[in-house]
Amino acid sequence: MSGDYRYRPMTAADLDWVMTHEPQLYPFPWSRGNFADSLSAGYVCRVMLDAETPIGYAVLMVVLDEAHLLNFSVIAAAQRRGAGAAMLAHLREELRLLGVIQLFLEVRPSNTPALALYTRSGFASIGRRQSYYPAREGREDAIVMRVAP
Ligand SMILES: CC(C)(COP(=O)(O)OP(=O)(O)OC[C@H]1O[C@@H](n2cnc3c(N)ncnc32)[C@H](O)[C@@H]1OP(=O)(O)O)[C@@H](O)C(=O)NCCC(=O)NCCS
Repeated sequence: MSGDYRYRPMTAADLDWVMTHEPQLYPFPWSRGNFADSLSAGYVCRVMLDAETPIGYAVLMVVLDEAHLLNFSVIAAAQRRGAGAAMLAHLREELRLLGVIQLFLEVRPSNTPALALYTRSGFASIGRRQSYYPAREGREDAIVMRVAP
């Protein structure tokens, strides 16, 4: 882990790699089609590199001056070393340059690592969507969070 981070657009050629990690990171992972659709739709899709090795990826939808963080992932082997915080800071910088003034996301209340990262990064909880996510037993709410990039 060098901490020498770079970011590049995700392409269809990354999807084999993404799909080796996505099912390890989420109880209800995105399908390959979800990523392919995001690429076709022109969403902001990024791969994070640490000294040329891919260690993270993210998908954001930007509409005018608002953005929505749809997927935000650091591979298991690279977690808890500051990569998530660094990727979030980078994405916020990209959004500022695009003129985005509000960044939204949804997160499961049970996702302690993500909630801790977002709260530490300045996101405020602005609401709750009831039974938003599928869960192992029934459904789980989403916490809606917002920050100025
Ligand atoms: C959430 C995620 C992106 C965090 O990435 P990361 O590289 O591990 O995060 P960082 O090392 O930058 O951690 C930054 C801070 O987040 C919090 N955090 C991260 N992992 C944590 C954990 N397992 N438990 C508690 N807090 C955690 C801590 O406050 C941490 O700071 P600290 O290490 O100084 O205490 C990563 O765990 C992940 O990809 N999880 C699976 C996918 C996912 O749930 N994505 C979010 C969907 S909403």
